[in-house]
Amino acid sequence: MSVHPEAQNGAAHVPRETTLSDADHGAGAGAVPTEDLEDHVNAGTTDTGVASELPWTPIAEEAERATKVLHPEDLRLPRPRRRRVLTVANQKGGVGKTTSAVNLAAALALHGLKVVVIDLDPQGNASTALGVEHRSGTPSVYEVLLGEISLADAAAVSNQSDNLLCVPATIDLAGAEIELVSMVARESRLKEALTSEALDELSPDYVFIDCPPSLGLLTVNAMVAAQEVLIPIQCEYYALEGLSQLLRNIELVQSHLNPSLEITTILLTMYDGRTKLADQVTAEVRGHFGDTALRTVIPRSVKVSEAPGFGQTVLTYDPGSRGAMSYLDAAKEIAERGARRETS
Ligand SMILES: Nc1ncnc2c1ncn2[C@@H]1O[C@H](COP(=O)(O)OP(=O)(O)OP(=O)(O)O)[C@@H](O)[C@H]1O
Ligand SMILES: [Mg+2]
Repeated sequence: MSVHPEAQNGAAHVPRETTLSDADHGAGAGAVPTEDLEDHVNAGTTDTGVASELPWTPIAEEAERATKVLHPEDLRLPRPRRRRVLTVANQKGGVGKTTSAVNLAAALALHGLKVVVIDLDPQGNASTALGVEHRSGTPSVYEVLLGEISLADAAAVSNQSDNLLCVPATIDLAGAEIELVSMVARESRLKEALTSEALDELSPDYVFIDCPPSLGLLTVNAMVAAQEVLIPIQCEYYALEGLSQLLRNIELVQSHLNPSLEITTILLTMYDGRTKLADQVTAEVRGHFGDTALRTVIPRSVKVSEAPGFGQTVLTYDPGSRGAMSYLDAAKEIAERGARRETS
């Protein structure tokens, strides 16, 4: 696997990176609580072209970013020729699987693409973030896995965008891991539900499957049903621990159940530019995965973590925030890389 040029010097491409020296120059040390710095200090130019020629002010900058995020006419994302189904997986808990699935989905949907998020985690966090009902008894992915209802029967339109649908997870899914064990074709229940005909009813360009933090049957079902795996990796100690187990499982699925499965995307999350550790992890991940790792890195951002509490993604909760902008940048990279792969 080739090493991304940036891996060699260990530099991370972090749009609007925050460092303590930025803070010292830009906002005055101590003027802003440190955890909020990333939403207030020096932004610079981003992939999506937000570069101000006006004198820098935090409010002007935020307004400009919000305009980019919310005005699709300014940014065209290529529509894939073939529907893309991505499984968002990492058995490590709390690394940003759900946050990445819903925010990438919202970014693509706000820019005109049709997206379905399948919440395959009994915690139902993706359903919450997309503002979709997921009380017990709601038609959900559980009944879809049992073959009782179709994907379209369970899909609900998110309050974020008419282009964004979510197949919710209810607490009923918690028993599925065990119930699936005795079922026929237990690893391919989701794949059977995601037939071309079933998907045609919803006609998505992208499907994101949000996995639980385990390598159990739900995650295996997600890997069997998808063509691509997106692995979010948190920029912190032990980031790579357990990853070899995930990679082994992916290989097993590739050799026995789904030969067309490919790890296409690694996304570094919760990057904190004030720490050396974040750069070390970034360099290490790029060293391992080369340019499978997106150039865009998601910064640690208070706004990103607040958004689900309001039943929203950061794209609508605070479109001018750096978190929103970086998820838009990451979505753009995913869309453009896909388009390049289609033509190569
Ligand atoms: N970029 C970010 N900045 C700040 N907080 C974040 C960011 N990304 C995620 N978080 C927060 O970190 C926590 C874990 O994120 P998330 O739920 O997306 O991880 P997960 O991998 O889906 O977790 P689980 O394994 O439990 O499903 C959440 O509280 C979320 O709000
Ligand atoms: Mg999750």
